[in-house]
Amino acid sequence: MYYIQSITKQEDVWQKSESYVKNISALANFEQLSFNSPITFFVGENGSGKSTLLEAIAVKYGFNPEGGSKNYSFATKDTHSPLSQMLDLAKTPKRAKDGFFLRAESFYNTASYMEEIDHDGLSASYLESYFDGKSLHEQSHGESFLSIIENRFWGNGIYILDEPEAALSPSRQLTLMSHIARLIKQNSQFIIATHSPILLAFPGAIIYSFDNKTITPISYKETEHYQITHNFLNHPERMLDILLN
Ligand SMILES: Nc1ncnc2c1ncn2[C@@H]1O[C@H](COP(=O)(O)OP(=O)(O)OP(=O)(O)O)[C@@H](O)[C@H]1O
Ligand SMILES: [Mg+2]
Repeated sequence: MYYIQSITKQEDVWQKSESYVKNISALANFEQLSFNSPITFFVGENGSGKSTLLEAIAVKYGFNPEGGSKNYSFATKDTHSPLSQMLDLAKTPKRAKDGFFLRAESFYNTASYMEEIDHDGLSASYLESYFDGKSLHEQSHGESFLSIIENRFWGNGIYILDEPEAALSPSRQLTLMSHIARLIKQNSQFIIATHSPILLAFPGAIIYSFDNKTITPISYKETEHYQITHNFLNHPERMLDILLN
């Protein structure tokens, strides 16, 4: 199931803009992206524009730029790019019943806001047992991150995640994958920016690379993430020898 079908850059609005986003070559050169899979990944070098595009899609869809559900409205900084205003977003006729935008960068603020008051129409007693009775801030970064996915992602939803692996051990990344699989079975769609060679292996995923001055689909084993990790783990001594000597 998917809800966001495609995005198209509005070339006329783009041309008139003077924003820094015009200097990001992957964003300058793509015209349209389709999301014909319940799970899509954005990969690419640091600074290639993944978070900028992910945030623009999230904002265009109606999420708070720093994270949360559609009911969240907090801002600790006002730095989101104007890219969302330059995108057209095509949705499928099915309406998502849930949604969440979660970014590693501003996770702390999202978690704080989440605990302040109830933003999603839940009763106080439910909220108390929400995260196994433990405040998100009494849990480690990875524990609280997974806790939100386990307890607050309800299915039939659109979930936009920026580097969800940042907080997670390899074993918990596998746990995350099983949650993603469960939520996809419950009619959900994921769009995820990642550097994780583990997450990228998710079966049936579309992988968009931001590395070749535009945005192009590639296969798992074509990603640098797979190739470098694979070569390194097969021959750590050889690679370190080249690197360090
Ligand atoms: N407010 C801003 N003003 C000017 N340039 C910015 C601003 N925010 C981001 N950039 C630039 O836009 C480019 C894309 O940034 P973005 O955060 O989208 O990269 P990314 O692909 O998510 O990288 P990473 O993998 O490191 O998270 C970077 O070169 C960054 O320096
Ligand atoms: Mg990023």
